[in-house]
Order: sequence, then structure tokens, then C-alpha cells
Amino acid sequence: MRVTVAGIGYLGLTHAVCMADLGHEVLAMDVDEGKVARAAQGEVPFFEPGLEALLRKNLDAGRLRLTTSFAELAAFGTVHFLCVGTPPAADGHADLRYVRAAVDALAPHLTSPCLVVGKSTVPVGTARSLQQAITLAAPAGDQAELAWNPEFLREGHAVQDTLRPDRLVFGVASAQARRLLRQVYAGPLATGVPELVMDLETAELVKVAANAFLATKISFINAMADACQATGADVAMLAEALGHDERIGRRSLTPGLGFGGGCLPKDIRAFRATALDLGVTSVAGLLAEVDTINQSRRALITEMAREAAGGHLAGTRITVLGAAFKPNSDDIRDSPSLDVCDRLARQGAIVTVHDPAALANAARAKPQLRYASSVTEAASAAELVLHLTEWPDYQALDPYTLAGVVARPVMIDARCVLDTRLWRAAGWSVRVPGRPRAG
Ligand code: UDX
Repeated sequence: MRVTVAGIGYLGLTHAVCMADLGHEVLAMDVDEGKVARAAQGEVPFFEPGLEALLRKNLDAGRLRLTTSFAELAAFGTVHFLCVGTPPAADGHADLRYVRAAVDALAPHLTSPCLVVGKSTVPVGTARSLQQAITLAAPAGDQAELAWNPEFLREGHAVQDTLRPDRLVFGVASAQARRLLRQVYAGPLATGVPELVMDLETAELVKVAANAFLATKISFINAMADACQATGADVAMLAEALGHDERIGRRSLTPGLGFGGGCLPKDIRAFRATALDLGVTSVAGLLAEVDTINQSRRALITEMAREAAGGHLAGTRITVLGAAFKPNSDDIRDSPSLDVCDRLARQGAIVTVHDPAALANAARAKPQLRYASSVTEAASAAELVLHLTEWPDYQALDPYTLAGVVARPVMIDARCVLDTRLWRAAGWSVRVPGRPRAG
């Protein structure tokens, strides 16, 4: 099939590459000429395992091309994916200006029957208003249809999540729209990926509800960490025991510093704003609490660091392991780690940060912090080490070697994944929020 993708950010570039890899002929576009030029040369401007190799493979095979023209997009194919960003507006709502601009630019060129497929995360009701805009502006009129097909990919797993998703959600208004989406996704559907067909509003809500649930699960286990802290219980054991219940499950149940990144925080705030507009106070109240619990983790870890440093941070040399909002990513958007770094630095701590992939991004965003390209260099003469992003590299560190590098072997494992017994055996004092001091 001939498929187009408007917007080549994280979602769009991954989607375009994966569509080409499924065997479609793909034309991807962005209004940013620099982005288009880099992608056309096989460069991926963010850290995503496997994506660059797949981009080059499909460029070389001639299945993927790039453009900056909406007119070319419209002329190229019959299925047009919208993958433009929906950043947060100042009042917490999703800012829909890029989605609307893309539709306004594309629609006048839609002269023959086609399907525009929204993938961006949007407030419920957006798809129906975009359909009206398309019908009014497209020469093809109501033959230019809109469908909603939300994306659930995780950074660090974007390729596999796109090629082998847990489910495919098709928000459609006609049998023809469903038929076209089935053709596009024939590959994954043939491997047994469940296909869920629904109306536009439900499809829009599935996406925000999924992110709201994941965020709620993380804040739930962090609230339990507070209960464990108050009682001397162990939240790591608690999470493991809860996770064995299949109705609960172990994933997204790791306690610690909470969630960050470009999706969960902004999406729960946008959903909360929509819920308030709609008068759905149950959703608004729930998500406000999820957000509050999540933010409180950052203050908690800062306070734990102050205590571990003997009650004052001023002049304390602190090593921070991890700057990205999660491992296997160079993304520092709303990074819980960098937020804690900021708080420590504001209280006078001398903070040196290490990260396997996000150092350059962190240094650009937070030039006031110090950076080191190896853990040994970062930890040299440190009085306190904070483990703030759970890269597998840090779980593989040798605590005996590191104990010889620091000034004081004191560690706060804010991600609750280090082998505390091993670190304590190597002479470290290890503190983990929600876990007993010497468990
Ligand atoms: C998320 C959703 O998972 C994905 O389906 C959606 O499409 C986009 O938003 P992503 O932002 O890539 O994906 O990250 P995710 O792996 O969900 O982690 C989000 C944050 O939660 C990270 O900061 C992570 O460290 C934190 N987290 C995750 C926890 O604190 N505990 C957990 O158990 C899991």
C-alpha cells in the first residue's frame, strides 16, 4: 500500500519506518526541513535502539521517502497518518494547534477518496471536530474520511511496540475505514495481534485512559512505599507479592522516584483538564491525586539526601547516576532525576551527573550541574551517591570497586532495583524509600 506519515518526531519517524518495514511504500513529511534532511540521510535525532538501522534499511530499499510538502503527501497515497505533537498548553490542556495546522494544510489537497488516521494523543472529541474540518476543506468532501488509531509505544521499545503491539485500536465511522486499516496492519494482524474496533470517541479515550491507568499504578505503589516507610515494612517485597496476582501484574509497579517523560505527566494533566471541562469530577480528582503523589517523590528523595548528608546539603559532593527520565533513552523531558538534581543544587550541593546516553541533552538543559562521562569519574570523592535512573549499567556496577572511589560509601537507591545485600556487604550504607534500613 501507499501510506503517508505527517510529522516525524518520535512517534512519526518510528511509525513511518515500521510501516515501510511492513512492506508499504511510505512518504513521510515534516515542516522542519532540517529534520527531513537528517532523516533522509538515515539519521535518527534521538536514542531509540534498533530504529536507525531499520531507517537505513528501508531508505536503501526505496520503500521510504521524505518530503516537506503536504501537496505531495496528498498525491502519494490513500492512507495518511497524522503523527504531530500535542504539547501541554499553559493551562494543562493539550495544545492542538499542530494537529489542526496539519489538517488545515493537508485537507485542501485531498481530491480523491482517502483515509486520514490520527495517532496523536488528543482530548476526546477532537477527532469529530477534525472530521468536520476535513469534510469542509477537502475537494473529496465526505469521501475524505477520518479514523483514530492511537499509539501505545514506549520509548526504548518503540520499534517492537509498533511492529508487535499488544493490541490495535481502530476508531472508525465506516466499514471502508476499517477495511483500509486492516490492510495497513495486515502483517501484525496475521500474527494474532487483537483488533479492537470502536467509535472515534472511545478510541481517543482508550489512549488517555491507558496512560492514566499506568500513572495511577505507579502512584499507587509509591503511596504503598509511604505506608511501608511508616511501618518498617518492605515495599519491594510488597510489590513482588502483589504482582503475582494476575489481576494486578508486576509491570508498572516498581516504586521509587515516580514517572516523568514526555507522555505520562502531560497526558494525565490534559485528561484532568478535559474531565474538569466535562464535569467528570471522579476522573479529575483521581488524576490530581496521582499527580500530587508523583511529584511528592521528588521532594522525598531530596529530603532523604539531606538527611543522609548529615542534615545539610550545602557543599556536599553528590554523584547522581542517571539523567534520562527512564533507562534506554536520552530523553530528559520532565526527568524526575534532573528535577531532584535541581533541588539539590538549589540547596548548595555540588552535583555531578552521569548517564550512559542523556549527558549531552542534560548538559544543554542544566548547565549549572557538573557532568562526567564515566561512573568512576562522577563518583570520585563523592560523599553521597544517588541512583535516580535505573539503567542496567548501574545494576551491573561493582560496589566494592566503587567503594574505593568515593569519599563516603553512602547510596540512596531511589529506583528500588539495586541488590541491597550485595552493596551493604561491600560496605555501603544503602537507603531505599519504603524499604527497611538494614533489610
Ligand atoms: C508511556 C506509556 O508506557 C506508553 O504506552 C505511551 O504510549 C507513552 O507513555 P514512556 O513515557 O515511554 O511510555 O515510558 P514508561 O516506560 O511507561 O515509563 C514512564 C515513567 O514511569 C518513567 O519515568 C519510568 O521510570 C516510570 N516508571 C515506570 C516507574 O516509576 N515505575 C514503573 O514501574 C514503571
